[in-house]
Amino acid sequence: MLRPLQEIFKPEDYPDLLLGIDRPDDAAVYRIDDTRVVVATLDFFTPVVDDPYYYGAIAAANALSDLYAMGVDPLFALNISAMPASLDAEIVGEIIRGGAEKVREAGAVVAGGHSIQDDEPKFGLVALGFGEASKLIKKEGAVAGSYLVLTKPIGTGVTTTALRDGVADASDIQDAVRWMSRLNVSASRVARAAGVRAGTDITGFGLLGHAVEISEASGVRLRFFLDRIPFLTGAKKYADMWKFPGGSSDNRLFFQDRVRFETGIDETGQMMLFDAQTSGGLLLVVESGQLSSFRESADQEGLSFWIVGEVELGDGIEVLKSVSRSDFPCSSSGESVWFYADPA
Ligand code: CO
Ligand code: CO
Repeated sequence: MLRPLQEIFKPEDYPDLLLGIDRPDDAAVYRIDDTRVVVATLDFFTPVVDDPYYYGAIAAANALSDLYAMGVDPLFALNISAMPASLDAEIVGEIIRGGAEKVREAGAVVAGGHSIQDDEPKFGLVALGFGEASKLIKKEGAVAGSYLVLTKPIGTGVTTTALRDGVADASDIQDAVRWMSRLNVSASRVARAAGVRAGTDITGFGLLGHAVEISEASGVRLRFFLDRIPFLTGAKKYADMWKFPGGSSDNRLFFQDRVRFETGIDETGQMMLFDAQTSGGLLLVVESGQLSSFRESADQEGLSFWIVGEVELGDGIEVLKSVSRSDFPCSSSGESVWFYADPA
């Protein structure tokens, strides 16, 4: 998708565009002086849940997430909205309110936006913030010996598809909505406090697709332990019903040649790791020397986190059934999630 841009805008003509055309990351980064950068992103999508307020809130949390993934707080946002003319004004108002209250929770402001008429609703944000060039969290820079930390459970794709097909339990939908509408603000601040330099957020490419991005940008191998990966409470149930969205199958087709699964991890387990996510958590590369400070500030912020793997020399992604080392650090306790404890 970026190819025509690379033909028109030669990266060498834009030395202040630090991340963008030739090196895409979670957001575009443009240098404005010796230390500061402007970081900008946009994201929008069709409804993922039935409740208009939470649709707006999730769309906003998802759009702001790309700034948090880069270690930057949003300053202001602009609404992007396409709504059917037939849609009740009250419903449209709820979508906008859900988004706006989420932006306010993030400490930012909605400064305007643009709306058009369209047959299928679409909503999202442009979001912008300032950062320090030397402190950004990028997909490059992951070093061997680090731990992989995830800050939300996965399984939103398979759960929201089950919802769309009318087979999801109310409690599972609630669980998914609670996680999807949660901002990645605490995760981002904890990462910054610990000095984390590499990471991303888990969205459309799923856990393993985004892991491939880090692996390739950093030139390292990422190894995951399936029994350490947190899932939404209903994810396995809907995975067994094969309620994966099309994007999850696309992810597997596109990324599977760079992923090696240990024998015994069945197809359902593999697909769950490729499941396309909406407003997922951050996947952070925490160096071993940063882990205790990470844990300390996570406790202060009340952030749940799971240590799901490690970084080593090499390339590609490896998924093992379980941790074999007895000295592997433990995750934070806390919120209720499901673990793939018995993949066989
Ligand atoms: Co992202
Ligand atoms: Co994005």
